[in-house]
Amino acid sequence: MLIVLALGAALVGVAGYWVESEPANTDRYYLESSGGAVVFEHQAHVDVTDGCERCHHDLLSSDSRYACNECHGEDVVADDFDHDDLKAIEAHTCGTCHQVSEPAQPQNCRECHPSAQEEDQLAVACVQCHGDDYTTDLLTHDDMQEVHDQSCTGCHNARSISAVYHEQCTRCHLIEKRELFATGEGSVRCERCHLK
Ligand code: HEC
Ligand code: HEC
Ligand code: HEC
Ligand code: HEC
Ligand code: HEC
Ligand code: HEC
Ligand code: HEC
Ligand code: HEC
Repeated sequence: MLIVLALGAALVGVAGYWVESEPANTDRYYLESSGGAVVFEHQAHVDVTDGCERCHHDLLSSDSRYACNECHGEDVVADDFDHDDLKAIEAHTCGTCHQVSEPAQPQNCRECHPSAQEEDQLAVACVQCHGDDYTTDLLTHDDMQEVHDQSCTGCHNARSISAVYHEQCTRCHLIEKRELFATGEGSVRCERCHLK
């Protein structure tokens, strides 16, 4: 009996190890969608883009940043700009300003982005859980993540998976391969991604 138990335990142990060490096959994804399936060539994208952080934003450290004047003149300062405007500048990617956090592993987007999101309020107010004296400028974003055990969903109602894919894939494709993904008038050509 004991031998059987021990053997069973050993097998479970080995199986656990196998399961854990088996790398996810991320070469190509076939994404089912009510808009028509989308084939996403992950490896091909890794080959043509300049870093995982172009898409996997949780690899970014929002505290450690390159100063604007490493590339611009002294008169260009972050305070004069809105974050959304900085992101919209074609020559900027997230990694232009934010340094990559090495220990962080890329995650599947669906870990945090739900299949549908009804909430229109993206950020949850601190007072939902804390007293009035807790405000967003109390600590930096990295520290906020740190004290909340790296969880995101307490503070964010993250956008739906389709919304973030549309935003991220299209943001880049209105620049890269624009001739394929946009019409002359600049509207997005849905059939470039969605198979019908
Ligand atoms: C062009 C955007 C893009 C780039 C660049 C990119 N990824 Fe991804 N990655 C994705 C998307 C999108 C998914 C999720 C696909 C899905 O399941 O919907 C993903 C999924 C993954 C997964 C699977 C996670 C899981 O648990 O299922 C791993 C691992 C991964 N990427 C690693 C990397 C690494 C390492 C790099 C850099 C060498 C990289 N990715 C660059 C977009 C990208
Ligand atoms: C790693 C280099 C790098 C860093 C760091 C950087 N930028 Fe840029 N930025 C660029 C490049 C390259 C361009 C495109 C310049 C061009 O097209 O002439 C650009 C364009 C811009 C533009 C558009 C201006 C124009 O002439 O097109 C603004 C505004 C800007 N950056 C502001 C900022 C601010 C504010 C910061 C800091 C928060 C910053 N940048 C950090 C590289 C950088
Ligand atoms: C041109 C430089 C620049 C680019 C490009 C940029 N950021 Fe930022 N980011 C900043 C600066 C400066 C701050 C801190 C000031 C602020 O909060 O507005 C910041 C703050 C943040 C924060 C903390 C927010 C908060 O309110 O505490 C996050 C998260 C973040 N960035 C993510 C991103 C992501 C994701 C991208 C790419 C989609 C990106 N950033 C692109 C400069 C940049
Ligand atoms: C660990 C949780 C987590 C993972 C994993 C994650 N996200 Fe997010 N993402 C968030 C949160 C939280 C926000 C901020 C709330 C919002 O805008 O929905 C966000 C915002 C965004 C935004 C809008 C802000 C911006 O960058 O301009 C995009 C686009 C996005 N995510 C794309 C992705 C993609 C693509 C993946 C997978 C490659 C991914 N996310 C994986 C949590 C996550
Ligand atoms: C969904 C609930 C929730 C929201 C929203 C939330 N927190 Fe927290 N926060 C917690 C919990 C729970 C802890 C205790 C974590 C622990 O001890 O592991 C905590 C801990 C903290 C701490 C460190 C310990 C302490 O009690 O002082 C700070 C600082 C903090 N939060 C600031 C903020 C700020 C700033 C915001 C808004 C941007 C915020 N929190 C939003 C739940 C929340
Ligand atoms: C304690 C609360 C808190 C936690 C935990 C937290 N965030 Fe945030 N995050 C914020 C606040 C507040 C902002 C600024 C929102 C704004 O100004 O609209 C922000 C901004 C962001 C942005 C920039 C949105 C944009 O469009 O510029 C991203 C991306 C983001 N968070 C991702 C994450 C991810 C990923 C995690 C988990 C690893 C996380 N956050 C954990 C409170 C939090
Ligand atoms: C950071 C920029 C970037 C992002 C983000 C990105 N792509 Fe791409 N994508 C590229 C580049 C560059 C190519 C061209 C590869 C080549 O030259 O063959 C490409 C090629 C493609 C093609 C093939 C186009 C052709 O030649 O017919 C498709 C389809 C595509 N991407 C879909 C997506 C989808 C779906 C997403 C989001 C999950 C996405 N892309 C996100 C940069 C990006
Ligand atoms: C660059 C690639 C790309 C382009 C262009 C694109 N989509 Fe999508 N779309 C996606 C991806 C990726 C998904 C998410 C699939 C998934 O759930 O994993 C998606 C999801 C959808 C969904 C499902 C929505 C939901 O909530 O389930 C619809 C509908 C859709 N797209 C319609 C459109 C329409 C209409 C256009 C043209 C205006 C368009 N798409 C252009 C990549 C693209």
